[in-house]
Amino acid sequence: MLTVAVLLSGRGSNLGALIGAQNEGLPIRLVLALSDRPGAPGLELARAAAVPTLAIDASAYRNNKAAFEDALDAALQASGCELVVLAGFMRVLSADFVRRWHGRMINIHPSLLPKYPGLRTHQRALDAGDAEHGASVHYVTPVLDGGPVLMQVRMLLCAGNTPEAVAASLLPLEHRLLVASVALIATGQVQLQGEQILYRQQALQHVLQLEDGEDAAGADSPADPT
Ligand code: GRF
Repeated sequence: MLTVAVLLSGRGSNLGALIGAQNEGLPIRLVLALSDRPGAPGLELARAAAVPTLAIDASAYRNNKAAFEDALDAALQASGCELVVLAGFMRVLSADFVRRWHGRMINIHPSLLPKYPGLRTHQRALDAGDAEHGASVHYVTPVLDGGPVLMQVRMLLCAGNTPEAVAASLLPLEHRLLVASVALIATGQVQLQGEQILYRQQALQHVLQLEDGEDAAGADSPADPT
């Protein structure tokens, strides 16, 4: 049973996906939902599912990022989590903090990394005229959205799409992507060794793809724990 903490700043729908997966038997235990914003709706979602919650109000630490991160670190350690999932956590973590959780922290990002790290990813993909877009789950390193990518999900973009429509289409795919990625880690099929992802004890040569129509329980899915 992998113990998991989720860091979020807002809605928390990805946390919701993990709660659903836990309830359906994914071998994880959500031990903490932590937000840097006390009013984040995701905290309500966690409370309703009896997941322990904590808010560490970043605005109270405006001039002291190190103290904020020390509080974050202490809370994560106290939770006993083995994996930290950044899911809509809108704060850039320092290299020092990230190194403390090396190999134990993943992020879900709404683009096909290495394309479009940072913000406004859907708008940027549309502006570039990309035919394809998607989301990535990657291990967190000090380079923003730059750590080794574990798995991606893809979608087609059409002329005339709006960023809002793209976000709405992508979100359910993100949920499946995150659950499948966490499933791989929880079942011991994936680890990070240095900067290299190991998949079933072999160096991962190509980013895994969540194929359309498959999910973590799918027989041929890369997340299939058999
Ligand atoms: C998702 O689009 C995720 O990819 C990005 O932030 C959003 C979080 O959504 N990092 P939610 O709070 O999980 O609903």
